[in-house]
Amino acid sequence: MKYSRIAGTGRYLPERVLTNADLEKMVETSDEWIRTRTGVERRHIAAEEQSTSDLCVEAAQQAMDAAAVGIDDIDLIIVGTTTPDLIFPNIGTLIQQKLGIHGCPAFSVEAACTGFIYALSTADKFVRAGEAKCALVIGAEILSKIVDWSDRTTCVLFGDGAGAVILKPSDEAGIISTHLGADGQYKDLLYYPYGASHQLHKTAGDDAKIIMKGNEVFKVAVKTLGGVAEEALKANNIGKDELDWLVPHQANLRIIQATAKRLNISMDNVILTVQDHGNTSAASVPMALDVGVRDGRIKRGQLVLMEAFGGGFTWGSVLMRY
Ligand code: ACO
Repeated sequence: MKYSRIAGTGRYLPERVLTNADLEKMVETSDEWIRTRTGVERRHIAAEEQSTSDLCVEAAQQAMDAAAVGIDDIDLIIVGTTTPDLIFPNIGTLIQQKLGIHGCPAFSVEAACTGFIYALSTADKFVRAGEAKCALVIGAEILSKIVDWSDRTTCVLFGDGAGAVILKPSDEAGIISTHLGADGQYKDLLYYPYGASHQLHKTAGDDAKIIMKGNEVFKVAVKTLGGVAEEALKANNIGKDELDWLVPHQANLRIIQATAKRLNISMDNVILTVQDHGNTSAASVPMALDVGVRDGRIKRGQLVLMEAFGGGFTWGSVLMRY
């Protein structure tokens, strides 16, 4: 066994859809502004009673069905999320309990929008080291519960959802390489001031909201995403023309177009979900992957590059044969 390889994918989007027209009634904005600046047309919003782990369980079930594995096969659970149900126990254990899985390691990684890429990269190491034979890897988020719905500069961007994959050992090529990075000097450009130990949480309380300097985030995102995508190709001596699919983080259509241009890849070879999902943070890449797989565009053996960028800043890419 030389590789880890994705054996099945799944996704779950909450039932409720919030359109740009709905948002026009909530804040001073317009469908035209949101579409031209971000590409978002609608997003799914979790119900009051739904927790992030509930979304994860639905996506996990789909991925397990697609991979033809059951709960007894799962021997590792890693979840990328910034909006876990609780501070502890970690969301991996909550999913374990809801699925009826006992004993295997279960944990979460927190890397904002790059959460799934970090989780997948970690799981890849477990599988290739022979420490896991059937890993459940999830990216999930309910940002709607921490968004300030009166702040038009952020509330129009985000959506909720969960995407999951099953990762197994394989002799045939699967994940070829993963590339992770972070730079904490950018913390103030994008953060949420509520947590367990930061002094701000005592004053932020119910007024806590996502703080984002959108314009500056945009510039660093474009530069960094192009770089981390090229790094994956260069590290493996793979030409840009050999790539079959780009599955990017779905934050903003303009950021995606800029990365595609730098990679010299046609937008026809980019999986786009931002119009229907909004920015679902850690859920965006696995959900986009699942969309491409289930509608038959991404085929077995094809060369796929996934990439993401998020608060921290954190960034990462995964080059793989699907
Ligand atoms: N509706 C109407 N007008 C708005 C809205 C809105 N929803 N939001 C902001 N505006 C106004 C601003 O107040 C500003 O008005 P002014 O010129 O009178 O001051 C004007 O629109 C332009 O604002 P900018 O912030 O300069 O707009 P920009 O073109 O940068 O687009 C956006 C904003 C969409 C947030 C963009 O900067 C972006 O996508 N940045 C990336 C941020 C991101 O994706 N963050 C998510 C997490 S990180 C990641 O996933 C990459």
